[in-house]
Amino acid sequence: MTRILITGATGSLGRRIVARAVADGHTVLGTHVRALDETAAPLGNAPVPPDDGHPVNAASPDVTTLPGATAASSRDEPSTAQDAQRRRPDEPATTAGAASMTQGGVSMVRMDIRDVDAVRAVIGTFRPEIVIHAAAGRDRNDWPATADGAANVAAASAGRARLVHVSSDAIFSGRAGREYTEDDDPDPIYPYGAAKAAAETAVRAIDPGAAVVRTSLILGDGNGAHERLTHDLAAGRVDGALYTDEIRKPIHVDDLAAALLELGLGEYRGVLNVAGADAVSRYELGVLVARRDGLDVGRLRSATSAGRPGDLRLDIGRAEKILHTRLRGAHEFMAAPLG
Ligand SMILES: NC(=O)c1ccc[n+]([C@@H]2O[C@H](COP(=O)([O-])OP(=O)(O)OC[C@H]3O[C@@H](n4cnc5c(N)ncnc54)[C@H](OP(=O)(O)O)[C@@H]3O)[C@@H](O)[C@H]2O)c1
Repeated sequence: MTRILITGATGSLGRRIVARAVADGHTVLGTHVRALDETAAPLGNAPVPPDDGHPVNAASPDVTTLPGATAASSRDEPSTAQDAQRRRPDEPATTAGAASMTQGGVSMVRMDIRDVDAVRAVIGTFRPEIVIHAAAGRDRNDWPATADGAANVAAASAGRARLVHVSSDAIFSGRAGREYTEDDDPDPIYPYGAAKAAAETAVRAIDPGAAVVRTSLILGDGNGAHERLTHDLAAGRVDGALYTDEIRKPIHVDDLAAALLELGLGEYRGVLNVAGADAVSRYELGVLVARRDGLDVGRLRSATSAGRPGDLRLDIGRAEKILHTRLRGAHEFMAAPLG
């Protein structure tokens, strides 16, 4: 059993990492930043979360809840890392020692990654062996959370815990005309990609032993941004079109969660591409979602992008060699009905 801190545990990826880590028997502490009672809405009612800057779904702030979570208020419990730090020094650094509350049976603590002291306090109290950094600004233009936040997590983890940092194919312009390897330097062309590139640079400089995982569109459990967007487009709740010339290698959220945990327990240092096996366009991916979920494919409109990163395919050859986790392609995992 390993002590694992998972940042962004209320996010679409983070909660699946939490679920997997708990199922594997690890001692888990998840972090969030918004009040949990604000985020505890049923998944089915949650609006589309912003993803990597796709223009047609930049609509509303999203609400999420951990699987099986119940709405709960933590007002009468310690709610900040500083609160956690104020516990007696002789108190054992158990999960509960750092947690402000539990949600869905998972210990959770509020921790703003823009605040390095708060991050240090949580890590100092919980004393994780592994930190999986899956938090990023919900507003994808939130540089302090996405870039500075990653630096803060790396600074607090270095020398204390093994760090696995989640990065993105959005660090690239998509103009290379070939798959990107781990050796390619970022050449971002929009703010979110620049923030993720800055985050990588900071993490690698501060903690060279960290694993930096470049991934692609994340979906598969019905809660991914692209799945929500496809539903909204098919239902006419959102007006827009899906790009035919933005090509990526989407990954199933549970494959990514498993890979991140496997990397956390391993020793891989540096950048690793962890994406799905199939390259598809945004439009093709929407069609796969629509077919799986019984939506009217004819209601999905296609378009070409203007100035967006185009060909963001990641070469996953190295990951396929070193990971036990199998990285399924979108055609395979979208063929299965939602569980
Ligand atoms: N979604 C994709 O398709 C995709 C693709 C490639 C890479 N990624 C990367 O994968 C990771 C997870 O993405 P996601 O889509 O699952 O994220 P998400 O659903 O947008 O969730 C973001 C998480 O970060 C937390 N957070 C936001 N601002 C914070 C702050 N200032 N301090 C502490 N926590 C903060 C949020 O907490 P609250 O719930 O409390 O707000 C939430 O738990 C991110 O690093 C993202 O850049 C995502």
